[in-house]
Parts: sequence; C-alpha cells; structure tokens
Amino acid sequence: MRLTLSVIKADIGGYVGHSESHPDILAKARESLAKAKKGGLLIDYCVTKCGDDLELIMTHQQGEESERIHKLAWDTFVDGTKLAKAMKLYAAGQDLLSDAFSGNVKGMGPGVAEMEFEERASEPVIIFMADKTSAGAWNLPLYKIFADPFNTIGLVIATGMHTGFAFEVHDIKEHRKIILSAPEKIYDLLIFIGAPSRYAVKAVHSRETKDIAAVSSTQRLSLIAGRYVGKDDPVCIVRAQGVFPAVGEILEPFTSPHLVEGWMRGSHNGPLMPVSIADSTPSRFDGPPRVAAAGFQLAEGNLVGPRDMFADKSFDFARQRANEIADYMRCHGPFEPHRLPLEEMEYTTMPQIAKKLEGRFTTLK
Ligand code: 13P
Ligand code: 13P
Ligand code: MG
Ligand code: MG
Repeated sequence: MRLTLSVIKADIGGYVGHSESHPDILAKARESLAKAKKGGLLIDYCVTKCGDDLELIMTHQQGEESERIHKLAWDTFVDGTKLAKAMKLYAAGQDLLSDAFSGNVKGMGPGVAEMEFEERASEPVIIFMADKTSAGAWNLPLYKIFADPFNTIGLVIATGMHTGFAFEVHDIKEHRKIILSAPEKIYDLLIFIGAPSRYAVKAVHSRETKDIAAVSSTQRLSLIAGRYVGKDDPVCIVRAQGVFPAVGEILEPFTSPHLVEGWMRGSHNGPLMPVSIADSTPSRFDGPPRVAAAGFQLAEGNLVGPRDMFADKSFDFARQRANEIADYMRCHGPFEPHRLPLEEMEYTTMPQIAKKLEGRFTTLK
C-alpha cells in the first residue's frame, strides 16, 4: 500500500511563556483531524506536542505537498490560534506568518516533513520532534545513524545496508542542494553538515533500494520573515529495520547530548536533551533544548502508537549529562560560545541596538 506520512507543526501559542502546549489546544487539533479522518481525507492521525510546538502526524494517500493536507493543517493551526488568543497564550499564532493560505504551508511558518512510500510488511517509524533548536540539529544524529559504523553496526553486518546511504543536503541560505553518498563521500559531506546553521540534511535514501529512509523539516522562520519571529523547531521522520537502521541504532546518537542552537530567545547554544513527550517542557532559561521521539508501527496506514521512545531509563544518564552541560554553558552568560556567533545574531534585535550605537564608534589610529 502506497501512503504518505506527513508531519506538520507550528507553535501557535505557549503555556506558560514558551515552555509547554496547552492541553485544550491539543484537544481542539484532535477534533479537527478526527473530522478529516471521518471524511476520508486522512487514514489516521496523532496529535502531540514538543514543548510549545503543536505536532500533527498524519497518514493519507494524497502524496507529498498535497494542497488538501496542507490546508487541513493550516486551518487546524488557525482555529487553534483563535483558542490560544482567547486564553491569551504566549505569542499566540507565533509561527503563522501569513494571513492567507496559498496552496502549501511551506514558507508560511509551519515546519513540514513528509515522505511517500510503499508500506512494508512491518513498517516501524520514529518521529523526532525538537523544541528550542533549529533544522541543522538533526545533522549530527543523522550522520551517526546512516554513516557511522561505530553507531550503526548494521552498516557493517546487514547486507541491505552495506552499500550505504545517500544524503540530500540543503544550503538553507542560498536555497540550493547537493547529494553526497556515504561511505565514499563522508569527508565532503562533513564539510557541509558540520556547519548546521547553514547546511541541513533534508533527506536520506537507501542506496540499495533507493527508498526514502529519513526526511527532516528545514524551514528557517527567521530567514522567511527576515527578522526574528521564533525558530524553526524541527521534526524528522526516520524509517527503521530491514534495509534501514534498527530502532536502537536510530535512538543511540541521542545518548550524547550534542550542542545545538536555539536556546533562550533563539540566541544560545545548548545541549539537546532526549526526553519523554511529557517532559518536553523547556523551563530552565527556556531550555535546555529538547528532543522527543514518537515511535509507530504502521498498519495499512494506521498509526499503531505512539510509543514514547525516550521514556526509557537508559536515557537517564544522557539527561543528567545534558543538565551538567547546560550548567557549564550557562556559566558563559552573554558570552560566546553559549551566545550564538555574531552572524547568527543578525536575526535578533541586535542589529537595531548596534545601529543605535553606530555614531559612538571612532576609528582606531
Ligand atoms: P529480537 O531477537 O529481540 O527480535 O532482537 C533482534 C535484534 O537483534 C535487535 O537488535
Ligand atoms: P520557541 O521558538 O519555541 O517559541 O522559543 C522561543 C524562544 O527562544 C524562547 O526563549
Ligand atoms: Mg514559542
Ligand atoms: Mg518551540
């Protein structure tokens, strides 16, 4: 059975501040998607959250970038925003940058990750959702999952994986892309994806079967709006088992909380902490950045799940390390490398403050 798995997300209001989603907003979104399922547009859906981000997980047969599916998501966000405004939730409608829907939510604020594929005899998928970070946050884990045999032993011992994977990398600032294959091109690949504020892994394909293995959202709200309006807290879908990495190989990279950008005012680096969905409540200095993982088995497009993959004791140590790293990073206060480098701060109000002080600078002799 050919089906499309779409994850479309937006921050339509925070409860309290930017720390969490209000349960009534989730309930309203469920109503909206239940109606679409009853009407036959959706096969199935799951509404969940990561911090202040509302996550719509949908299966259907409309293909990627379907106007009907995107409109459903958009309308759900718009309706939710009305409720968020009534409750005066924080920054209600934050990620809806446009007043009118024009066929596709791409470039309008919400984040999108979609993949169309033939459902296998058993189809495990993991949906990663992050808050207080940005699209490039997946680069390091996707590299480990699909190109590093010290993480993924399947690359060495599983016949279907031994040929490796192809990485589609997007240059977020210049709007161009390049495809580089692992293992042959890993050094070329790392030149780019090691700079996650500029280059983001958009998709990964199996070189054995050409099948889609992973897809991420790469929107950058700041670049869309031309000024800081919140971040593109990203999502990523990864297929598991068979010619793809095992579920455990997919979760393993999150045991080392790597530094990502997006903490406090979108202007700080901090460790990405793997947490249960319930614990995606970034409250310390609006962070530290969180990642949650919803696992599903698909059955004729039905979403059997979610299994809350990081709600597992084996991630306790990673969480403790993330807290220790968070403490250490916080010691730097307003100094780099906790604060983002200057070129990244251009999307905050910093240029306006710098402009105000422009006349106070005098030339060095
Ligand atoms: P089971 O024998 O529990 O199915 O596990 C297979 C496996 O090796 C997973 O990594
Ligand atoms: P969100 O992008 O999750 O709304 O966070 C904004 C922020 O930076 C809070 O400090
Ligand atoms: Mg917010
Ligand atoms: Mg958010």
